[in-house]
Amino acid sequence: MTARDLRQAGISTLVLLGCGKMGGAMLEGWLAGGLRPDLMQVIDPFPSPWLESLADEGLQVNPAELAPASVAVIAVKPQMMAEAAPKLAVLAGSGTLFVSIAAGTPIAAFEEMFGADTPIIRAMPNTPAAIGLGISALIGNAASRAGHMDMAEALLSAVGKVVRLEAESQMDAVTGLSGSGPAYVFHMIEAMAAAGVAEGLAPDLAMRLARTTVAGAGALAAASDESAEQLRVNVTSPGGTTAAGLGVLMPELPDLMTRTVAAAAARSRELAEAG
Ligand SMILES: NC(=O)c1ccc[n+]([C@@H]2O[C@H](COP(=O)([O-])OP(=O)(O)OC[C@H]3O[C@@H](n4cnc5c(N)ncnc54)[C@H](OP(=O)(O)O)[C@@H]3O)[C@@H](O)[C@H]2O)c1
Repeated sequence: MTARDLRQAGISTLVLLGCGKMGGAMLEGWLAGGLRPDLMQVIDPFPSPWLESLADEGLQVNPAELAPASVAVIAVKPQMMAEAAPKLAVLAGSGTLFVSIAAGTPIAAFEEMFGADTPIIRAMPNTPAAIGLGISALIGNAASRAGHMDMAEALLSAVGKVVRLEAESQMDAVTGLSGSGPAYVFHMIEAMAAAGVAEGLAPDLAMRLARTTVAGAGALAAASDESAEQLRVNVTSPGGTTAAGLGVLMPELPDLMTRTVAAAAARSRELAEAG
């Protein structure tokens, strides 16, 4: 993504509310993409030294009054939302697009705060966004037009791939799959390493093998034109070692994964109702 892409999408000025892990990763992506620091304003109660250093380049940290902005990105934890989001209310109704990446806060909550006529897009990124390899799903409210979706897509493209949803109700499944998914994969690494130790490998060596295997297989799956199923078939000789291992894993994993994603999606629905 380049500054031209962002500008072509209609983004010139930007406010970021919350510059933690996810907000910081996005800000880094926007700067790397060429968005000018002097056109950005960031609100965060405890700015990191990195964020403070950007003030030297003209980025405004915690300005006393917000200047108009084409986009306001909300990246605070849902439990901080009630305290933090009203700081953006001054931008509502001025044509500013609101993009929230907060898990579990529905669009209706933002419409209550900023008005149903305000364009609001809800996005669900995931942690590989920190290294530009995330995937974000987007859904907009009735007031968001195609141009708004293009702006949100350009912003989230700074930290990985973007998909668009058809209904906000899909967000719970997305949260259960790609939002929470990196933790499932990290646990897979832990489990594979422990299994290697059980087979007699030293813990450090087993962890290195497990971590690099998962990273390599993920990169291969991402780079290949073949389906995941075909990639699996390609490395499974009949009667071989992989077939023996899969003979244990495959009867168990689909049901386990179905229940895992269902539990996370159910929790996402619960959190949305509680909020
Ligand atoms: N991390 C993920 O994998 C992931 C994935 C998808 C979606 N999300 C969503 O992304 C959002 C941010 O998550 P995160 O992991 O980046 O959390 P985080 O690292 O805790 O970042 C939140 C940031 O917001 C700041 N903040 C707290 N109160 C504020 C206020 N009143 N006004 C302005 N800023 C305030 C925090 O400052 P202090 O640290 O100083 O309190 C912190 O810098 C959450 O809503 C989460 O649901 C995260």
